[in-house]
Amino acid sequence: MRPRARRFTASGHLIDSGLLTRALNLVLEAGADYEVVSFVMGRTRTDESSVELEVRADTEPALEALATRLVDLGLWDRAPGDVQLKPAPRDSCVPDDFYATTNRPTEVFLEGSWREVADMRMDGVIVVGGPGPRCRLIRDVRRGDPVVCTNRAVRIHPLFRDAEGEEFGFMASGVSSERSVSVAVRRVAEALAREKAAGSRVIVVAGPVVIHTGGGPALAALVRDGYVSGVLAGNALAVHDIEGALYGTSLGIDLATGLPAREGHRNHLRAINAVFRHGSIAAAVEAGEIRSGVMYELARAGVPYVLAGSLRDDGPLPETEMDMLKAQARYADMARGASIVIMLSTMLHSIATGNMLPAWVRTICVDINPAVVTKLADRGSGQAIGIVTDVGLFLRTLADALQR
Ligand SMILES: NC(=O)c1ccc[n+]([C@@H]2O[C@H](COP(=O)([O-])OP(=O)(O)OC[C@H]3O[C@@H](n4cnc5c(N)ncnc54)[C@H](O)[C@@H]3O)[C@@H](O)[C@H]2O)c1
Repeated sequence: MRPRARRFTASGHLIDSGLLTRALNLVLEAGADYEVVSFVMGRTRTDESSVELEVRADTEPALEALATRLVDLGLWDRAPGDVQLKPAPRDSCVPDDFYATTNRPTEVFLEGSWREVADMRMDGVIVVGGPGPRCRLIRDVRRGDPVVCTNRAVRIHPLFRDAEGEEFGFMASGVSSERSVSVAVRRVAEALAREKAAGSRVIVVAGPVVIHTGGGPALAALVRDGYVSGVLAGNALAVHDIEGALYGTSLGIDLATGLPAREGHRNHLRAINAVFRHGSIAAAVEAGEIRSGVMYELARAGVPYVLAGSLRDDGPLPETEMDMLKAQARYADMARGASIVIMLSTMLHSIATGNMLPAWVRTICVDINPAVVTKLADRGSGQAIGIVTDVGLFLRTLADALQR
């Protein structure tokens, strides 16, 4: 006797994506039972299929636990009724049964129709009000805000790969160091050229290794040539880039010879000092003190950037945002509406940015450590390219490909 039952439905490319098989396996693994109430299979490769499933479990908690996994997979209540809303008991605090968001496109059933949730990102909650349902961090919820609770009447759209996704995700099936970097670079160059022509937003997240490995001039060229709409980085990228522009070193190493420069250990401190003399990076560029590099090209082209502080920063530079909540918010603002995000050799800033992005934003992750690339590329989107290589080499090859 299985008294607890709930009906779910799903539509899309259920067979080729494996979604239906995974859903049925989940039911069986949970020791529950199912009945396929209806199933309409798409007639051609491009047609969608749809299914209605009755799921039965012995107890209410078992059914709820299973329902959470099915909703997460992309199934939804057949007759949802309005989403459950409860008022936030106080600022930055939500009811205990709050619904926690994923980074995939999400809708909630409200006043008789499915409504799209804006500002999707993972690890948020959904607040209803004003223009409609919106994803928020718990800390930004205010007392009395109506918060979506439980996953009833929540619908998450699985990301089925479209033709462009397949094209872009040509290497997404796994991250490996045993792949041709030049092929990957060519595909990235093609994608960037397409995005530039379409006027889309390409955001670069970059760590100081970019400068240490001699990739600075190539990144500067990408900015100068209009391929970059914004840069997210830490204090160090700017410090070492400016050190390179002023003294030809990065962390004291001569960028031309790869050898330690005399008194080179002082150079990054001198760079920070020089910026403080002018008051800001922009002022130092304006005054003609900084005449090359990534920060120079950003200032000249008026391309926005955010420098987020960290515990290990020297200086920090006047522009570095040391209030972490403000830094996170400015990162999220910059990432909003991005079409591609390129993550270059920084675990800290790349993971932070990745957590803010909806799953449909395409990402390119470049790092020399396969474990880091795997972590960054594996965001459940299939829209990520992971490239295991030296970032300086990658950027120089990319800039060459784009100039050709
Ligand atoms: N002087 C300073 O103020 C200073 C100096 C260093 C770091 N920091 C700050 O510390 C924070 C973390 O720094 P981070 O982002 O460099 O460290 P991180 O550890 O988050 O990331 C460094 C990444 O670079 C990768 N890497 C190393 N060599 C590479 C290569 N040749 N090619 C490709 N990838 C390579 C590593 O595998 C690693 O994933 C940042 O906020 C940064 O600004 C400040």
